Amino acid sequence: MRDASSFEKVLVLDFGAQYAHLISRRVRELGVYSELVPFDIAAKEVLRKNAKGLIFSGGPSSVYDERAPLAREEIYDLGLPILGICYGLQVLVHQRGGKVVRSNRREYGKALVNVVEEVALFNGIPNPTTCWMSHGDAPEVLPEHFKVIAKSENSPYAAIASGKMFAVQFHPEVTHTSDGMKMLSNFVFDVCGCTRNWTTETMIEDAIKEIQGKVGANERVLCALSGGVDSSTVAAILGRAVGKRLFCVFVDHGLLREGERERVESIFKRRLGRNLVVADDSKKFLSKLKGVKDPERKRKIVGAEFIRTFERTSRKLGKIQWLAQGTLYTDIIESAKGAASKHESKIKSHHNVGGLPKKLGFKLLEPLKDLYKDEVRQVAHTLGLPDELVNTHPFPGPGLSVRVIGEVTREKLEISRKASGIVEDELKEAGMYERVWQAYAAVGDDLATGVKGDSRDVGHMVTIRVVESKDAMTADWSRLPYELLEKVSNRITNEVPGVTWVTYAVSSKPPSTIEPQ
Ligand code: XMP
Repeated sequence: MRDASSFEKVLVLDFGAQYAHLISRRVRELGVYSELVPFDIAAKEVLRKNAKGLIFSGGPSSVYDERAPLAREEIYDLGLPILGICYGLQVLVHQRGGKVVRSNRREYGKALVNVVEEVALFNGIPNPTTCWMSHGDAPEVLPEHFKVIAKSENSPYAAIASGKMFAVQFHPEVTHTSDGMKMLSNFVFDVCGCTRNWTTETMIEDAIKEIQGKVGANERVLCALSGGVDSSTVAAILGRAVGKRLFCVFVDHGLLREGERERVESIFKRRLGRNLVVADDSKKFLSKLKGVKDPERKRKIVGAEFIRTFERTSRKLGKIQWLAQGTLYTDIIESAKGAASKHESKIKSHHNVGGLPKKLGFKLLEPLKDLYKDEVRQVAHTLGLPDELVNTHPFPGPGLSVRVIGEVTREKLEISRKASGIVEDELKEAGMYERVWQAYAAVGDDLATGVKGDSRDVGHMVTIRVVESKDAMTADWSRLPYELLEKVSNRITNEVPGVTWVTYAVSSKPPSTIEPQ
């Protein structure tokens, strides 16, 4: 088995852009291992990590700010290929002796970029090419030995180069830059000389090795299993890493989807033969949530209750030192716990990150914390997990408590559970379930008038939400056929007691989020 440090890597220095991590994800998509590291990483650390090239990410600062993040000077002495992106370009210009100024022509959105010099970065790129720009600062004077390699109408220095150092003012990592992947591929293979050797198999080997390095020979691990693809993948990796010292715990918090508990029991106990403990603490969770309306408080309460359940279970099973959970990169970023990115602001406390109590009685294992959902699905598939599990929609850790708007009551829970079941069933029936990211029905306290037979009937309004997304950072509402919506609406009003109206959410993320709370 290879050691992670033996893999050739491209390191992404994180200057604080919310999407800095996307760059390393793109490099991994090319089959080369990449990770996000702090902008002030030391040269010896870069060498230890076996880096073949560096990418400087974008960021919200200006290089002339007093406390602007800059790379250490010693980084340049390594002579490694460097690709600067947006703020990364400005860092290179500033630190190599050029001048960056606040531009009076702020450029935002798509721009046509003309390649003016044939260099490795632009191998096979059409000319002109569409790129995504978002910057207020721009170089005024280039450092010595740097030349312009591409221009746009508003950017005379849209891309610059000097030897193996390249920098672009636009963002090759976003899909709006039509040939961005090709440029990254040119940098990674043609400039850095990397080989394509990073696959889901190597990722699994690597994760197993890392876990074995952390967990002592006599230590045991509790895996918080929700039945979703993330925690199931963690459980499968841990099974290989620590064998019988793994205990999967599924918490029935009373906020589950229809049939969830039975599904998890059937897959894990019967089909995968895992050591599964089902902890039914639904009464405790629901009583703690009584009267609570604030979404962040609900998230925190569920997070804290989860830990209590794990602690109780751990005491019952004998001492367990480690808690493993299926935290993804997107959970961390939206809870604003990014290691290097101090500039991101919190969107929600995902219970398994921001919702954890400060004093945790376990050491934490999060083997998927650098990955996005679709990468995890590939890993799950490679591990041989059943398709039904690999393709299951994400379900938030705080469960239906965040799909019930306002106070969580048994009545509203039942409405959201039953109506969501209908939405999922009908999508499956129409062959559309796997095409969408998530589909559910939310319910709040709004009541609307209906008519049953000849009499007035007042009941709840239910909102169906079906979204399409690649990584949950952004999402678009799904343009479902009217016939399908009609069928779902009819079934909900007919089959779910207490519902009189059904609405469809037509807002994207941003500005909305995927879950209502
Ligand atoms: P939002 O609602 O923030 O959700 O747009 C983005 C994605 O994350 C899921 N989600 C969660 N997952 N713990 C999780 O494990 C949580 O607390 C949590 N909150 C939201 C959500 O379902 C969507 O896929």
